[in-house]
Parts: sequence; C-alpha cells; structure tokens
Amino acid sequence: MELTVSPEVPEVRWRSPEIEHPFCGAFGVPGFQKVSRDAKGRIHLAMVPFALSNPDTTLETLIQQMQTHSGAIPLGESAMGPVFWDPRQVAHLILAGTTGSGKSTLLRSILTLWKHRGASIYLVDVKRGLDYLDLLPHLAAPVLANPAEAVTLLEQLWQEFESRLEQLRQSGFSSFAQAQNQGQLRHLPEIVLVVDEFAIFARSESTKAAKETRLQALQILENLALGGRAGGLHLILSTQYPTAEILGSQIRQQALRISGRLEDKVASQTVLGTEGAESISSTTPGRFLMKDGPDVVEFQAYALPSPGPEHGFQSISCKGTATRP
Ligand SMILES: Nc1ncnc2c1ncn2[C@@H]1O[C@H](COP(=O)(O)OP(=O)(O)OP(=O)(O)O)[C@@H](O)[C@H]1O
Ligand SMILES: [Mg+2]
Repeated sequence: MELTVSPEVPEVRWRSPEIEHPFCGAFGVPGFQKVSRDAKGRIHLAMVPFALSNPDTTLETLIQQMQTHSGAIPLGESAMGPVFWDPRQVAHLILAGTTGSGKSTLLRSILTLWKHRGASIYLVDVKRGLDYLDLLPHLAAPVLANPAEAVTLLEQLWQEFESRLEQLRQSGFSSFAQAQNQGQLRHLPEIVLVVDEFAIFARSESTKAAKETRLQALQILENLALGGRAGGLHLILSTQYPTAEILGSQIRQQALRISGRLEDKVASQTVLGTEGAESISSTTPGRFLMKDGPDVVEFQAYALPSPGPEHGFQSISCKGTATRP
C-alpha cells in the first residue's frame, strides 16, 4: 500500500509517533519503510509488509519470556514484536488450520511451557501423541484417541472442576487465579485439556450408543469451556475443519482464536470472525492470524526443535493414570 503526502507536510509530522505507529500498526507493519519523492515534490510512503521469518528460539528463551510477562505464554513473533496468550485473561484456545499449517508444532511449544509451569496436561489425539513424543512421559494420563475413550476423563475433570468451585466458595475466592495470587490453593495445579483434532467430536457414528457418548463428551467440554476459567481449567482445541457446528458459540466466546491457513473465507469467518486465513500461503507453515479484541494480528509461531528418536520408547509410558485428576 502506498500513500502520497503533499510536499508542504514536513517529515516531522508524518514521522511523528502519533501518526506513524498507530497508522502503520493498524496494517500490521512497524512503520513506513519505503520513502520516495516524485518530480512534483510529493512524497510517497509505502508500507512494505514486514517479512516474518522463522524466529529462532530455544526453550530457555521462551521460559524467560513467559516469566517476564507474568506467566503469559509466548506464541511467536508479529511485525510489532512477540505475541502472547495469557490464559488468566482468556482461559481457552482454539487453533485452526489445514493439514500441515503448523498446529501441532505450535501446540508442542505451548504444552512444553505449560509443563514447565507444573500444569497437569491431558491429551486427546487421534494420532495418539505422535507429534508430542517428548511430552508423553509428562502427561497426567495416557493419551486418549476418541470421544468414547475421552468421556470418562471428561467426567473426572468435571468432578474436579466442581470440587474446586466448592473449595473456592469455602475459602471466599471467586476464581482459582485469585486464590493462587493470594497464596491459597497452591497445591492444585492448573489443568490443561488438549484435543488435537476437535472434529472427532462432530463425527457421525454407526450406533446410537456411540452417538450418545460423543454428545455427552461434547456437552461436558462445552460446560468446561464456560466455567473452566474460574476453576483453573484450560481447553486447547485444534481443528483442520472449523465449522460452526463443532466450534459452538459458547466455546468460541471463551477462547483465544488463532488460525493458520484455511481452505476458504467461510472457515476463516467461523474461527476469526473475519476473512484472511484463506490467504495465508501453504509455503509458510507456522504463519497464523490471531483474533485479539477487534484486531487480527499475523505472527510466525515459535517452533522448538523436534524430539529425537531417543523419545520413541517413552511413548508407552506416562507419569499418571487415567484415574481422578
Ligand atoms: N512455526 C513453524 N516454523 C517453521 N516450520 C514449521 C512451523 N510449524 C510447522 N512447520 C513445518 O510444517 C510441518 C507441519 O506442521 P504440523 O505437523 O505442526 O502441522 P499440523 O497443522 O499439525 O498438520 P496436521 O493437521 O496434519 O496434524 C512441520 O513438520 C514443520 O516442518
Ligand atoms: Mg497436527
């Protein structure tokens, strides 16, 4: 995009922070990057999109960033700097994107940071944790692969949630975060439930019983989405196929919404409430749009190095059991 400024306007005006930063920021670029003058003395200002490259990072750097940002989770870098998810502000996360867009890679760094915070992490994943081999030994329960397997866990999490609410009521706090900020309920970990491919909760089944189980699981998930923040329980739902049916408005309203490349504008609208994700190139995995209040921020996600083959054998074990969280 290019703007023309009349020669009478001094540079000090259009370069001033009140003009340049809010204006260019609205377009997701840090400032006017190409300035030229034509034969009539008019000044042409171009906002060249900032070329987002893959940000180099290490786990140590991300942990440090998280600590200096009051526990908010660093996700990647936009033209304006690092982008964070603060789960105490917005409890849940929806992550959409076609296959290969970079969802699991981003999830892996998010979960590694949750693990560092001491959270109890539960994973429902059709691929049974293949993308998270180094995390599997640290999960609170074995990986589950479908709604039928997940329903028992969801019921346990719901009971845990209700028990937490009761403890909060008794100790006079209105939320888990408030209690922990005041040094109470410190023995209770944050709980993170990840569903990598949420569309499995929208599949049609051959039997009535299987359908009932799936709907029951979905209902608990929706209830957890509504109340989870108060109880220190966070949902992370990823999907290749975002539809209004699976991302019910209750879940959407409670979640930070991030999308990688999507097939079409309708899918982008469903996740972000705006078009744009359909224009992300398939050659830039890890490129995401994040709905941040009224704004949409583009960022390149951090990617931690993949785990080596030494993690393979650990996939059969994990810290916890599928019993009460
Ligand atoms: N942030 C990133 N920076 C650089 N490359 C990335 C990034 N994220 C993903 N990639 C590349 O894209 C590939 C696919 O990523 P990933 O498996 O995370 O996609 P996905 O969205 O989970 O796909 P699927 O829906 O099929 O599970 C990775 O193996 C990696 O090569
Ligand atoms: Mg994946």
